[in-house]
Amino acid sequence: MADSLLITGASQLLTLRGRGPRRGDALSKLDIVEDGALLVRDGVIAAAGPRGQVEALPGARGLEKLDLEGRVALPGFVDSHTHLVHAASRAEEYELKIQGASYEEIARKGGGILNSVKKLRAATAEELKKRAHAALQQFAAHGTTTIEAKSGYGLDVASELKILKLHKELAAEHSLEIISTFLGAHVLPDEFRKKTDGAKRYIQLLEENLLPTVAEHKLAEFCDVFCDRGAFSVAESKRILQAGREWGLAPRMHAEQLSRTGATRLAILLRAASCDHLEQVNKSDIRALGKSETVATLLPGCDFHLGLKKYAPARALIDAGAIVALATDYNPGTSPTLSMPMILSLACAQLRMTPAEAVAAATINAAYALQREKQVGSLEVGKQADIAVFEVADYREIPYYFGVNHCWMTVKRGRVIHAAKESRN
Ligand code: NIG
Ligand code: FE
Repeated sequence: MADSLLITGASQLLTLRGRGPRRGDALSKLDIVEDGALLVRDGVIAAAGPRGQVEALPGARGLEKLDLEGRVALPGFVDSHTHLVHAASRAEEYELKIQGASYEEIARKGGGILNSVKKLRAATAEELKKRAHAALQQFAAHGTTTIEAKSGYGLDVASELKILKLHKELAAEHSLEIISTFLGAHVLPDEFRKKTDGAKRYIQLLEENLLPTVAEHKLAEFCDVFCDRGAFSVAESKRILQAGREWGLAPRMHAEQLSRTGATRLAILLRAASCDHLEQVNKSDIRALGKSETVATLLPGCDFHLGLKKYAPARALIDAGAIVALATDYNPGTSPTLSMPMILSLACAQLRMTPAEAVAAATINAAYALQREKQVGSLEVGKQADIAVFEVADYREIPYYFGVNHCWMTVKRGRVIHAAKESRN
């Protein structure tokens, strides 16, 4: 039967069974089955447990068999923050940053996000699609099975719609799951900076033109705002996210990345699905996140790429009881990586998260940040058979071997979407 198979021989099967989302001590409970097996029927997990038990099930008879020969299997990574569609790298800015220019200095001179906007507006949908397809293949090759994708490099009606329509097309053409977010409020586009009341007029454009179109054509599920110094204020963000909600888009935010603005408080107030970055949060923000349902999504790839020393206070957030998730923030300006294993390495070395905490943050909690915790993020009966297999015998070796991709196989809804060319050496 298509999309049905019996997977055996996992040295460790990380099921992450149990109720999500994970907070505090529960974040490190992976529910590992040694010599584990999975029964997949029609793309859905029918059984997960010790090999002997699963193999003995009547439903296991006659199924195609896949022996993992002692490799580690875990839920496919859920990358809950990416800027998938963009036209080109910004390697020229990378060099400037290394030589001492800050991210904000570059942005003030028309570089940064506006640089990517210029490039995206000039690119055809076909060019953008080709680049995004190649990226999707790489996501899959690193064990990711679900991603969120944001617009935000268009910043005019035609270009924002161009990106959002691509999300839909790419989702239909590629086996990776893509959850679309409207980020029309990334920064104020150049043409509005020159106008009096530019911000007000751009927000009006979002409210009166873009949001209704996005909602009418079901082009996004979430509405995001970059609420920070040099982007949108807390008051502006509130207005945009409330308008988004009226059009049926759930709020999420870029918060406290460059400066502390109070964005986290707003995210909590609006019951946002997630607030992301959080390098600059203060103690009271941490306490508030500990009591809220809004996920604290950490993006250590940004600080690493920008060469910054101040990472988000992951330990304090976990201790406060916040729902901590991890994502790549794949984008050309601050985090040009699509490797979740690399993010796990950074989470361990820089955020001082344990390997177990990092795995849960990158799977079940990230699924919760995308309101998909019932479908993905753990290997449990009834959930999608989204599985990442790594060429290691102990899951801690996934972050341990940094900078090298040990993903051996990726399965989405029971179908193999990536298989490593070379086998074990
Ligand atoms: O998540 N902070 C805002 N947005 C992106 C950066 C985008 C860019 O520099 O192109 C981020 O870091
Ligand atoms: Fe981002």
